[in-house]
Amino acid sequence: MRLKIVLILFLILSINTKQAFAQQKEGRTENVCIQCHSQLGGKFAEPVEQWGKSIHKEMGNNCEGCHGGDPADMGRAMTKESGFLGKPKLLEIPDFCGKCHIGIKENYSKSAHGIFAAKTGAPNCVTCHGNHEVKKASLELINEKNCTRCHTYDKPQKIKQALVSTDKEIARLSALIKDVKGSSIDTKRLEEKLFASRNAIHQVTHVLSVDKINAIKATTDKELSAVDKSLKAIEKEITKRKRIAIGVSLFCFFAAAVIILYRKTFLKPENWFKV
Ligand code: HEC
Ligand code: HEC
Ligand code: HEC
Ligand code: HEC
Ligand code: HEC
Repeated sequence: MRLKIVLILFLILSINTKQAFAQQKEGRTENVCIQCHSQLGGKFAEPVEQWGKSIHKEMGNNCEGCHGGDPADMGRAMTKESGFLGKPKLLEIPDFCGKCHIGIKENYSKSAHGIFAAKTGAPNCVTCHGNHEVKKASLELINEKNCTRCHTYDKPQKIKQALVSTDKEIARLSALIKDVKGSSIDTKRLEEKLFASRNAIHQVTHVLSVDKINAIKATTDKELSAVDKSLKAIEKEITKRKRIAIGVSLFCFFAAAVIILYRKTFLKPENWFKV
């Protein structure tokens, strides 16, 4: 009787899990923007392929994140009522991307680029990052080919130089934190500090002011050297703990040896009367 109840319960549970899993899978492929556009061909299908290789796909920012619309309903997908924005005009692009990248848009808008683009449309976010094939950003984007389309490489190079050394130090400290993470010492606070420093300096790239970048760099570098100091202290503590552990095990080893010797020589009955 009990076995039957258990079996029935198991059956119900497994059917439910299967249904939930099927629904989840459907949900993932149900995006009608992707379904329809991938079949359109030409310039209307290209976005699907390009977006497929982007950081936005990886992080779950789908077509409707940027263009609006209803990704669950074929009929309503591209209607005004479902908030469909269509293809942004050149002058609308900073706001289009900036609804998610708020801080960056602010810095960009105040910069020489933002001011010039407000009149002419370029350079905007898409000029440097692309529209559908947006990749993880890095200082590699600052290079002669990208940055001499409109002016000399003089100022871009200065910005890059200022950021490169700080980025290297951030990478070195991240690796060190990874190394000591296995120990029982808590590194969460240091990781947070490093992350904040990283973001602080990368937020100012779009400001384009070499002076401002150098000013932020000065505070960031100070923060980084504090993290470095803390990490050195942690490494010292780990070495100390290792030494203590070795000492304790050596002590135990000798103590055990002494006890065994003692038992062998003094606890044998034939030795009892020799002492
Ligand atoms: C049933 C098919 C179908 C679905 C579903 C669909 N589209 Fe489209 N889409 C089209 C066709 C066809 C065009 C080109 C003709 C036009 O602009 O109406 C187009 C055009 C576009 C354009 C360019 C508009 C312009 O002004 O040039 C964008 C952007 C777009 N779709 C995004 C989306 C997004 C986002 C979704 C999902 C929320 C979506 N589409 C769902 C068929 C579809
Ligand atoms: C990161 C934001 C972003 C995402 C995500 C995105 N798009 Fe776009 N899309 C744009 C921008 C910006 C433009 C305008 C292009 C320009 O002017 O450079 C555009 C233009 C288009 C166009 C018009 C193409 C043309 O040449 O007229 C279509 C169609 C389109 N997108 C469909 C899609 C579909 C389908 C998806 C999902 C697979 C998608 N987009 C995802 C930002 C995005
Ligand atoms: C609906 C919100 C949304 C919109 C709109 C949007 N993005 Fe993003 N974007 C994200 C998310 C989420 C990530 C991944 C998390 C992160 O790195 O910030 C991301 C990441 C990025 C990255 C990589 C960041 C990195 O860490 O290296 C770039 C570059 C980028 N987006 C540019 C754009 C551009 C250009 C547009 C407009 C064409 C745009 N985004 C529109 C949400 C959005
Ligand atoms: C002149 C070229 C240029 C323009 C215009 C531009 N960016 Fe960038 N962006 C870069 C470079 C170079 C980096 C990498 C350096 C860095 O992260 O500090 C970057 C980094 C980013 C990042 C990653 C930031 C991080 O913390 O790692 C995002 C997100 C981003 N840009 C979004 C945008 C958006 C949104 C716009 C428009 C409002 C825009 N960018 C305009 C060149 C540009
Ligand atoms: C589409 C054209 C265009 C592209 C591409 C472009 N810029 Fe610019 N940039 C301008 C304009 C316009 C100005 C303002 C006038 C000037 O200084 O020549 C400017 C000015 C600057 C300044 C000086 C800002 C100041 O306040 O003194 C820096 C720094 C700069 N750009 C960096 C870059 C970097 C880095 C890249 C490549 C990632 C880049 N630019 C790509 C158009 C562009």
